[in-house]
Amino acid sequence: MGDLARLPLLEKAPTTHARLLAWVEEVAELTQPDRIHWVDGSEAENKKLTDELVEAGTLKRLNPETFPNSFAAFSDPADVARVEEQTFICSENERDAGFTNNWMAPAEMKQKLRGLFAGSMRGRTMYVIPFVMGHLDAEDPKFGVEITDSAYVVASMRIMARIGTDVLDRITQTDAFFVPALHSLGAPLEAGQADVAWPCNTDKWIVHFPEERSIWSFGSGYGGNALLGKKCYALRIASVMARDEGWLAEHMLILKLTSPEQKTYYVSAAFPSACGKTNLALLDPTIKGWKVETLGDDITWMRFGKEGELRAVNPEAGLFGVAPGTGWGTNPNAMRAIAKGNSIFTNVALTDDGGVWWEGMTEETPAHLTDWRGESWTPDSDSPAAHPNSRFCTPIDQIDMLAEEYFSPEGVELSAILFGGRRKTTIPLVTEARDWSNGIFMGSTLSSETTAAAAGAVGVVRRDPMAMLPFIGYDAGDYLNHWVNLSAKANPERLPKIFLVNWFRRTAEGGFAWPGFGDNARVLKWAIERLEGKADAIETPIGFVPTGESIDLEGLDMTPAEVESAVRVDPEEWATELASIEEWFANFGESLPAALQSELDGLKTRLG
Ligand code: GDP
Ligand code: PGA
Ligand code: MN
Repeated sequence: MGDLARLPLLEKAPTTHARLLAWVEEVAELTQPDRIHWVDGSEAENKKLTDELVEAGTLKRLNPETFPNSFAAFSDPADVARVEEQTFICSENERDAGFTNNWMAPAEMKQKLRGLFAGSMRGRTMYVIPFVMGHLDAEDPKFGVEITDSAYVVASMRIMARIGTDVLDRITQTDAFFVPALHSLGAPLEAGQADVAWPCNTDKWIVHFPEERSIWSFGSGYGGNALLGKKCYALRIASVMARDEGWLAEHMLILKLTSPEQKTYYVSAAFPSACGKTNLALLDPTIKGWKVETLGDDITWMRFGKEGELRAVNPEAGLFGVAPGTGWGTNPNAMRAIAKGNSIFTNVALTDDGGVWWEGMTEETPAHLTDWRGESWTPDSDSPAAHPNSRFCTPIDQIDMLAEEYFSPEGVELSAILFGGRRKTTIPLVTEARDWSNGIFMGSTLSSETTAAAAGAVGVVRRDPMAMLPFIGYDAGDYLNHWVNLSAKANPERLPKIFLVNWFRRTAEGGFAWPGFGDNARVLKWAIERLEGKADAIETPIGFVPTGESIDLEGLDMTPAEVESAVRVDPEEWATELASIEEWFANFGESLPAALQSELDGLKTRLG
């Protein structure tokens, strides 16, 4: 209590929102910061914060000629990705966290966290960031307030979400509910103690209290662990809100497709982390006459509209994209957005002229770089120059191809939903679901090889329902039931068609069976032609796949026979897959929706 007196806290607070003030006061008492700063989101504030971060060595200012107003950060080598092992859903009942989540009783977890947060901001500034996920003018705007002791988090949140005074004023004026999202690096500074460039703690806890709709994150400064509006709020907490309020919070991109006939279609796609969402969202079609525009690249909130149509919005304001593999050849739209500046890069390599570089950015590898660990690097070095999970963080409105509908709170009506994963074998390039229920089955059995986006082994096949495995904030069976039950609100005539895609299948020789990236437009074209009843397909036990001739190969060095291999349904591979799906479904026990059990039975029968 005594310490509070030295904090010019409440009298200076730019809000009269009682619950917010009480929470800020409670957190300040617990974490003991030296200062409190209410984030207004202004240019001037951002300049001051980034100047301070440069001074502190957390950020390096990039060459303003090539990367205006842009910075590079380098994390502690032990803080480079989301930590799923340390991510918890602390519902009142263990059953409500389900088998896909870590759980601890809320009271026990709170006690543990209070211990960790006690004094954790000593010597630091506590920033209070009011934010809204989605539109401020949405019918029911979803507010949050992140408290953090990391200025890097403030600068990144400013890119990723709508933050600052406008948002706070709205929270105050409407006495709105907000999600309290508490973040600390867990690295207090004692008097006279020098800071490090990337403070963090070896002990990391990413904790969600779904009934309370609150988030406590301790010990990490990286990405989804620390930018709490993103995965923690817009997926884990929002999925619980969505369950209770009758909508869906999904790990999906949204794109707008215009055909040569000038017909427009909106498509969303769910792929696990580092499996191609940002790339597909920013696709540069290699086929003539087709145009793609972007609405979102990572998170989609969807609800059935008044006419039973499925509408989608992107709640985010920025891109937090995987850097490696993003290049002028593969994703020029992302590169152009990045080149406009105003970006924060984390764990990429630095060029000698103050720019950034990562594997796959350019065809030619620079002769000399400083790698993400700060070591001198040449093409002979044994390890990659950029960390495999290095990221660019860039405002979404810097995308030239951003669709104007991005700015509309009503969102867009979806025509198709893609589910996709990273599988070397078994899963065809594209499969059209037999119907909506079969499509939910495809989503519920989605699988992918693990990537560097999360700490842990890479390349292991795991089931990842709707690409939401690490992000479902409640019981996974209840989540699948929610998908099934919500469909009752749909107008059957306007239900999107569902497709399963796999850009990552390999040939017998080991190369990719499909060129991917801009050529994925050819798969989108086939999907749209299926909606229009125009393209051919072959019925297989798992759904409809394209004939070799039905994929537009103009200008591509690929034959219809090669397409046929890329979409082949191999009976032996599918026998193994079926067994693995049965094993996966066994985890759900009683909570597996009956509709999905009968989809499995149907698949089994069809596979013989
Ligand atoms: P996100 O995390 O789901 O947004 O995934 P990204 O779009 O950032 O892509 C992750 C990685 O997959 C990057 O290294 C990309 O280069 C790679 N990738 C994306 N799309 C394709 C594709 O169509 N084919 C292949 N082979 N790789 C892809
Ligand atoms: P992603 O999200 O890994 O799904 O791209 C970034 C993050 O949460 O760190
Ligand atoms: Mn992405």
